Parts: sequence; structure tokens; C-alpha cells
Amino acid sequence: MKVKPIALQKLPPDLDASRLPQHVAVIMDGNGRWASRQRKPRIMGHQRGVDTLKDLLRCCKDWGIHALTAYAFSTENWGRPLEEVTFLMTLFERVLRRELAEMIVENIKISFVGNLTALPDTLQDEIRRSMEDTQDNTGTRFTVATNYGGRQEIIQACRAMATQVQQGHLKVEDINEGLFASHLYTADLVDPDLLIRTSGEMRLSNFLLWQMAYGEIYVTDTLWPDFDRFEFHKAVLAYQKRHRRFGKV
Ligand code: FPP
Repeated sequence: MKVKPIALQKLPPDLDASRLPQHVAVIMDGNGRWASRQRKPRIMGHQRGVDTLKDLLRCCKDWGIHALTAYAFSTENWGRPLEEVTFLMTLFERVLRRELAEMIVENIKISFVGNLTALPDTLQDEIRRSMEDTQDNTGTRFTVATNYGGRQEIIQACRAMATQVQQGHLKVEDINEGLFASHLYTADLVDPDLLIRTSGEMRLSNFLLWQMAYGEIYVTDTLWPDFDRFEFHKAVLAYQKRHRRFGKV
């Protein structure tokens, strides 16, 4: 696989190592536009987007950022042309098969979140294999949201708790934020400190709705395939200049 030349391998000196975001989430927008600008088919943008994601994951490892979560396919993305959806499903499967050995060596723990049962069986097999083969890894946590929707995630958590109440295993008054969060796909992750969205759109698009209650949002006009370590450096620098108040004064 072609990866862009590696720059900023070490944490840039103007970043404060003690105040790095522990969990970064990304909405990888702009692949289609990047391809159109190059007069290429949209799928070439997605292909290039994989290289960007791979380098960002490596960068998180190099800089000591513990978790990266990427929005790869939303519950709404099924509405795209069948050709593009099929390409994306095949791409996810191919990338997983190709990159698994390296992820094991790099000590990356990969997880998938979303309604995975609706994905093609062969992709589900690769997902299962990659999660099993990396489950004991202790390094960077890499989470891929696939067929993911924040509202759908909240509804499934409500249903799980309602069932426990119905069966007499849970009292309504025992439901609190911690218990609710433990029923989300991201139960074993800290909430994202920083969400980066490329290509200029300023919305969450149904991504990590609960988890982003106090997360910082950084939007850049750069299209996802062009988002490199220099862009990531800018995003983390902007994050470190923010004053996080968590609702307090
Ligand atoms: C949004 O750009 C991008 C996607 C819906 C797909 C992103 C997926 C990848 C980069 C592959 C990740 C692979 C793995 C295995 C995790 P867009 O098509 O909406 O761009 P546009 O807004 O310019 O049309």
C-alpha cells in the first residue's frame, strides 16, 4: 500500500505531552469531492482515504494518543448508489485482511461499533477475526464505526435497560449516566476529547451523540484524503488552546 512520506514522526515540540487528547474521533468527509477535483471516480477518494486513516493511526501511536475512532459508514450511507456501497464494503474487507498482521505487530487493538449484523457475511467474518486476533493488544485502541448511528446506539441501550427492568433485574431509579454509558458500544472507552471533521461541514451527522456531550469539535476545510500529520498537528494545537470547562465556570 502506498503511504505518504512520514513527517512529524515525533511529538512536535509546541504540543504539550501532558495535555494531549486521550481519545480522538474523526469524521472522514470529502473523499468524493477530492476524487472529483482530480477528475477521478469517487471510489478513488475512499481508497486514498484509507491511506490517510492508516497514517493518522500510526501518528496517534507515535505521539502517545491512546484511542482513535473513525466514522467509516453511517446507517444513512446505505442510501448511496449501490455501486459505491458495494465498493466500500469490499474495501473494508480488503483493508482488514491486508492490514491485520501489521496491526498485531503494532500492538493495536481494533474494535468495530455499529449494527454489524447487517453487513455482508464475509465482512463480518473479517471483523470478528480482526477483533479476536487483537483483543489482547495493549497499545492504541482503534475503533471503526460501521453501519453506525448515534440515535440507533442510544435506542439499543434504552431497549437493553428496559428489558432488564421488565425482567426485574434493574430498578428504574438505578438508571444513571454511568449505567447508560455502560450499555453503549463504546462502554470500554473514555469519551472523545477531540472530534475532527474534514471538508468544512459543521455538524455531528449522528456520530457519537452521547459521547460528544463535552468533546471539543475541530472542523477543517481540508478534504479527508489531504488530511496529513501537519493538519493533525494544527488540530491538536487548536485543541490545546481551548479552555475545557465541562459546564462549569
Ligand atoms: C465520506 O466522504 C467518507 C466515507 C463515507 C467513507 C470513509 C471510509 C474510508 C476512508 C475507509 C476506511 C476503511 C477502514 C477499513 C476503516 P464522502 O464520500 O461523503 O465525500 P463527499 O462529501 O466529498 O462526497
